[in-house]
Amino acid sequence: MQTDSGYQLVRLNNGICSVRSLADAETFHPVVGPVAEAEALYLHQLRLCERLQNHAGEFVIWDVGLGAAANSLTILHATRDLACRIRLVSFDHTLEPLVFALKHAADLGYFGGYEAHLQAFIHKHRVGFQDGPQTVNWEFHHGDFPSLLISQMVGRESVKPLPTPHVILFDAYSPARNPAMWTLPLFTNLFQLLDPRRPCAMPTYSRSTILRVTLLLAGFFVGVGHATGEKEETTIAANNLSLIAEPLDRRWLDRARRSHSAEPMVEPVYRIAPLSEENWERLQAHPQFGRV
Ligand SMILES: C[S@@+](CC[C@H](N)C(=O)[O-])C[C@H]1O[C@@H](n2cnc3c(N)ncnc32)[C@H](O)[C@@H]1O
Repeated sequence: MQTDSGYQLVRLNNGICSVRSLADAETFHPVVGPVAEAEALYLHQLRLCERLQNHAGEFVIWDVGLGAAANSLTILHATRDLACRIRLVSFDHTLEPLVFALKHAADLGYFGGYEAHLQAFIHKHRVGFQDGPQTVNWEFHHGDFPSLLISQMVGRESVKPLPTPHVILFDAYSPARNPAMWTLPLFTNLFQLLDPRRPCAMPTYSRSTILRVTLLLAGFFVGVGHATGEKEETTIAANNLSLIAEPLDRRWLDRARRSHSAEPMVEPVYRIAPLSEENWERLQAHPQFGRV
């Protein structure tokens, strides 16, 4: 199918189109397609319609890995009839997949009605609009996400603070391709930037032991996440246990200890290793499990 600027339109087995990065050799939503995955992983799992209906004031969504904007647009579209104020904060180190996707909006099928807003967003890195009862303020933070978190941590006085999120859509490429987005320092910084008084949940598509250990050691509570059609199980993390329907339990902890791939990556270099004694001790002391 069509290719330009390093991205390609691919048709999945179910006939739905998705975007593929040629340089990273990754298809964005490879099995069920962009909308079905965003609905299962984020919209339904986070009960976003219900939360938005009951929320007073601005509801902040961090969209980590804006890519071709399928996750963000699926959420905006599904909640457009609700009287709510959404502040969407998107991060990526490139706008190329979005520019590419917008050119192929008709094939991708999830842009309906947002094209003009996205043109403004691409040019100004922000756009605000009223869509019926829904108010949207959408901003783009261009750059390397791990570095951006570090600058938020160290430059608290000189750097404009980001609005703290109520939910995070975490959608980077896989750890093997994109290890810098899955390290313990990254998730530790992310956790520390959350507001403990603002419960925040973060689903992500992986169910790997190494990811779950990394999130726990970063400070999150971690649970089993909904199936997406592509995966029978995913992962949800949160800074508040009440947001996790099925927290990982002691049986999972014992399996993690025996796993050949459980030790978090500290450097942005992909590697597989069993859990160290030190991290096993730290995991057991996590408030989700208490001391064994
Ligand atoms: C799987 S795609 C995201 C798909 C997107 N969420 C969507 O709905 O279309 C992963 C995205 O993460 C971005 N990314 C990867 N590494 C990054 C980094 N270090 N900093 C910021 N963005 C990064 C890539 O440019 C890519 O657009």
